[in-house]
Amino acid sequence: MADARFDRLPRTVELVRDGDGHAGFAYVDQRLLPARLHIARTGDWRAVVEAIKTLAVRGAPALGAAGAAAMTLWACNEGAVPLQAGGCCEMRPRFFEALGRIADEVADARPTAVNLAWGVRRLERLARVRADEGASPSDIADALFAEVKRMEVEDEAANRALGVHGAALLPSNARVLTHCNAGSLATVFFGTALGVVYTAAARGGIERVYADETRPVGQGARLTAWELSRIGVPCTLICDNMAASLMARSQVDAVVVGADRIAANGDTANKIGTYGVAVLARHHGIPFYVAAPESTIDRSIPTGADIPIEERDPAEVLPAPIPGVEVWNPAFDVTPASLITRIVTERGVFEPGKLVY
Ligand code: MRU
Repeated sequence: MADARFDRLPRTVELVRDGDGHAGFAYVDQRLLPARLHIARTGDWRAVVEAIKTLAVRGAPALGAAGAAAMTLWACNEGAVPLQAGGCCEMRPRFFEALGRIADEVADARPTAVNLAWGVRRLERLARVRADEGASPSDIADALFAEVKRMEVEDEAANRALGVHGAALLPSNARVLTHCNAGSLATVFFGTALGVVYTAAARGGIERVYADETRPVGQGARLTAWELSRIGVPCTLICDNMAASLMARSQVDAVVVGADRIAANGDTANKIGTYGVAVLARHHGIPFYVAAPESTIDRSIPTGADIPIEERDPAEVLPAPIPGVEVWNPAFDVTPASLITRIVTERGVFEPGKLVY
């Protein structure tokens, strides 16, 4: 597939800066898709936190870049400017006290995707290193900006690399089932699970993608279907409860999904419903692949039991409450490593239990 097709996809998140040093964050407001492709812009880190909480920006790798961008907006537009007047040495503790508070608030916006905290802590560490070297807050803000731009480039490069590794696992004319949206919209650009699909499709290797609708928020129905349609990959949308019948009819050659956090033993948290798809795949003898960048692996967590699972507003499941009816709305579930055939990262293809190297 010629790269020109990818011009039809927007960059999902992008940090920008104008001539006077003011930083801005541009993002696809995913709540409006597929009806409307709207690039929202803000210079306020609080608006980025809100966008994360409301799923305007979502998907683990995109959250990493957005969280880091939020901190940078604060540093460039608020932190470095007024504090500069007091002189470097007096204001540095105040700068770091505020930066630490903002880092925590951004990292806590959503708990499951480790990429969010990974992006935030990467910037916090860099700020400390630069401060130890004697940098002023405005120098630190410049360094944070440059680091986020590096992260954006790294994200696309990782997705393209894992796409190549993952595509090699698929048979020719593959029929692939995916859950949620692990596409370009979930990353800075290109996508993880769909990065694998796009790479295989470029070689003519994809017959069709079955996109699970992905209740309750419909990331498959609204986002994956939209992306595949824009790129021109044949797509069939199914309700979540149709996957078993499709597999029973031998219509699925492989399942490829993304991940929000992968524990050291390979247990993987991803959008609610992924676990069920993995059970179905095992029952029908279909390979189940997880595609994710290294930044999604949390080696500090031994097993999936330690992964925090976000619970969201019941209104996502039941918009008009019914008296006496409770709603349980976990946003993610954990697929045990034993159900995962291989984990694909930018470094290669791994058995789930062999991620520690
Ligand atoms: O709640 P969301 O939409 O942020 O959940 C996203 C997912 O579960 C994705 O599959 C995951 O983040 C991988 S994205 C490359």
